[in-house]
Amino acid sequence: MKNKIYIIANWKMQLSNQEAVELALNLKREKFSLIEQGLELVLCPSFTALAAVYEAIGDSNIKLGAQNVFYHESGQYTGEVTSTQLKDLGVEYIIIGHSERRKYCGENDDNVNRKIKMVLEHGLTPIVCLGETLEERMEKKAEVTIIRQLTGALEDVDLSGERKIFLTYEPVWAISPAPPATPEDVNEMLQLIRQLVRDIYGDEILKEKVKFIYGGSVDAKNIKRFLEIDMVCGVLVGGASLTMEKFVPLIKKIII
Ligand code: PGA
Repeated sequence: MKNKIYIIANWKMQLSNQEAVELALNLKREKFSLIEQGLELVLCPSFTALAAVYEAIGDSNIKLGAQNVFYHESGQYTGEVTSTQLKDLGVEYIIIGHSERRKYCGENDDNVNRKIKMVLEHGLTPIVCLGETLEERMEKKAEVTIIRQLTGALEDVDLSGERKIFLTYEPVWAISPAPPATPEDVNEMLQLIRQLVRDIYGDEILKEKVKFIYGGSVDAKNIKRFLEIDMVCGVLVGGASLTMEKFVPLIKKIII
């Protein structure tokens, strides 16, 4: 039994503003009774749709997340946005260090670390993505990569008080249209991640402040397999969160 299950929809750059709002409205209309039982549904649209999606979800208890943030509070940083700006729009969660940002936008362990600190300072929850590439896995460097990403991400990160953090294992080779990782792969890597967190913070913070998520080709057919893993308390869903046809059956599969 898990107290709470998190389904985080990462819409990437896949929906127009209007499509994002329509999808949010349709999800709200579904009135998932699971929300009362402990489902936390988080929608992460593009920056441009955040305000309208926030309005669309209204008082439904669906939460709003962003896909990125900058690590300064203000200044001459053309094209970037701050935690405060996002918070003002109703954002509660922020995805940090997604592999697509690492690959295409120069995100590195240092940026990820600074972003996590900034987000936590503003009372928001970072959803940090960790994951090795296929090449790294083939070369038996998956663990080394995860250890590097995680220790880099968490360097001097304060998890006291109300602060909490989500750590997502999302191997790059499992992002759709590739097949998902196996539950064994996920379990093995999350064990390593959990051990590292325990080494850094100790048992209490591990238990109270850190949530473990899986991402990579999660759909209605396989979600249960991932949620059955003891440590996993949620999923990060890309492709299967983009339409009602795919997303609603996925959500309804969960048992709390
Ligand atoms: P996917 O994407 O579910 O389409 O594999 C997940 C992600 O990249 O966050």
